[in-house]
Amino acid sequence: MENIIKVDHVSYSYYNKFTALKEVSAEIKEGGKFAVIGANGSGKSTLLQVMGGLRHPSSGEVFYRGEEVTEGSLKDKEFMLTFRQGVGYLFRMQIFIYFALQFLMNYSLVLCN
Ligand SMILES: Nc1ncnc2c1ncn2[C@@H]1O[C@H](COP(=O)(O)OP(=O)(O)OP(=O)(O)O)[C@@H](O)[C@H]1O
Ligand SMILES: [Mg+2]
Repeated sequence: MENIIKVDHVSYSYYNKFTALKEVSAEIKEGGKFAVIGANGSGKSTLLQVMGGLRHPSSGEVFYRGEEVTEGSLKDKEFMLTFRQGVGYLFRMQIFIYFALQFLMNYSLVLCN
């Protein structure tokens, strides 16, 4: 299976001072499921931000379908569009609103019938 996202020995420090990620490597494969689990402050959010190109690693590399994701590569419009269309975040609140709307729609359909 093709790698969609690959992080290779990624480290990230906030303000070059607070280490959030140290030498993290992971691969997200097409069709697969990937969960990030860890204690508070272990770096889950930082890792997802790095995978999403919102933060760039202090060292190590991030790849999207084989192409390195850097501040420079994201300045290339074609790559930026491909990457931004392929990688996004779904926030918990949106999931809640989606299910709430589904529930209301189903419930109102029942009431109408
Ligand atoms: N903006 C920031 N400035 C400085 N340090 C930060 C910042 N954001 C996170 N950190 C530090 O980086 C480390 C990893 O934080 P991160 O938020 O990625 O962890 P997390 O696993 O998502 O935590 P949580 O379970 O609380 O959501 C922690 O030590 C945290 O204090
Ligand atoms: Mg978090």
